[in-house]
Amino acid sequence: MRMNRRGVMLCTAGLLGVLAFSHAGSAQRGTANARITVVEHRQALMDRVGKLMKALGTSSSNGFDDLGAARQSAAALHDTASRAARTWPAGTAVGTGKSAAKPEIWTQKARFDREMAAFVSAARGVNVALAQGERSAARQHFDNLGKTCKSCHTAFKGKKP
Ligand code: HEC
Repeated sequence: MRMNRRGVMLCTAGLLGVLAFSHAGSAQRGTANARITVVEHRQALMDRVGKLMKALGTSSSNGFDDLGAARQSAAALHDTASRAARTWPAGTAVGTGKSAAKPEIWTQKARFDREMAAFVSAARGVNVALAQGERSAARQHFDNLGKTCKSCHTAFKGKKP
């Protein structure tokens, strides 16, 4: 519970950072602090994605035995993935705080956007399948979801400084 509240606070701060960008008109004109806040915000979201993936991985190998728990994780994962997808303003690549985001995210924007869309879509697939109690479809979507992490990280995520 305490962790959750902290997560929400971080996300609120991140949102303010994103809003500061919009007001500045361009990310490059956002203050260094605002840019670092966005990086921290998306790392917190990604970190949560990682934890939820672990929980769902265990659940998936148990055949989603505890359907209620799996549904909760999948709904949270879908929501977190959707929010993470909106945290990539230009000017937040490696060199900004502890960002591990490669500059290619912005020079190959169309590809990055496709990878992000595949990620959110697979997360949605797991969520919807579990909500409908379709365990084997959920497993397929979950396996696809795992592939989207690797594919995007290989192309667009460097080492965290
Ligand atoms: C479309 C691209 C993309 C997809 C898909 C993606 N990631 Fe990431 N992820 C990134 C990038 C880029 C970073 C580095 C962000 C930064 O440091 O600013 C990152 C960072 C992370 C981090 C480190 C967060 C931290 O604390 O620094 C974790 C954990 C993570 N991702 C897990 C996952 C998992 C698990 C999946 C799949 C379920 C996934 N990611 C899917 C691009 C992606």
